[in-house]
Amino acid sequence: MQLFLDTAELEEVRTGVQLWGVVSGVTTNPTLIAKAGQDHETQVKRICEIVGNVSAECISEKKDDLIVEGRGIAAWHENVIVKVPMTWDGLGAAKVLAGEGVRINVTLCFSVNQALLAASVGAYIVSPFVGRLDDINQDGIQLISDIVAAYREQSIATKVLSASLRNPIHVQDSALAGADIATMPFKVMESMVKHPLTDQGVERFLGDYRKTQEPKAVEAPQGQAAAKA
Ligand code: E4P
Repeated sequence: MQLFLDTAELEEVRTGVQLWGVVSGVTTNPTLIAKAGQDHETQVKRICEIVGNVSAECISEKKDDLIVEGRGIAAWHENVIVKVPMTWDGLGAAKVLAGEGVRINVTLCFSVNQALLAASVGAYIVSPFVGRLDDINQDGIQLISDIVAAYREQSIATKVLSASLRNPIHVQDSALAGADIATMPFKVMESMVKHPLTDQGVERFLGDYRKTQEPKAVEAPQGQAAAKA
């Protein structure tokens, strides 16, 4: 399972890609771009300079507008994946754009049937939102399992991107459910590495190493020791 960051913050992307080396893509949305306080195009281009597979979301509602907007976004950078909403207009636009070779992420997916529709228009990625389902007392991870099973059964190549993840358990459960990609906030990724036994282990190994570096106490020559006795 590939790990993506759900963010529009450049520092977070740099840390995940260049420092940690674990991030292979980024998902953005209008909320995250607004939070970063930057212009959409400029920020997406900056992120694309750091990492491949950057989802950038269309905000048009009508099919024809989505097509024009999607073409524009796709031209920003070769690393861009165009995100369209799971609506009839979004699907119609996705079909046209995918036919032109644009990589499409159909977002806001909440059912297996929606995931089948995304696949049928040639989407590169479908994004089921785990956390938002959990919020309304439905099982988000179960949806990931169900979509993965349906896609396997139908030999569908569209990638399942587990989105709206709120904690590290969502990440491991997404992997166990067979998701191709998990996208998560920076804080969730940061927490994936934490384990108290790892921290204790590192501390103990370092402590033991340092002991080997301490100067050894000078031993008294044998003759002196014998004379004293
Ligand atoms: C994914 O592409 C979305 O940007 C994201 O995962 C939404 O998450 P949220 O439900 O926490 O807003």
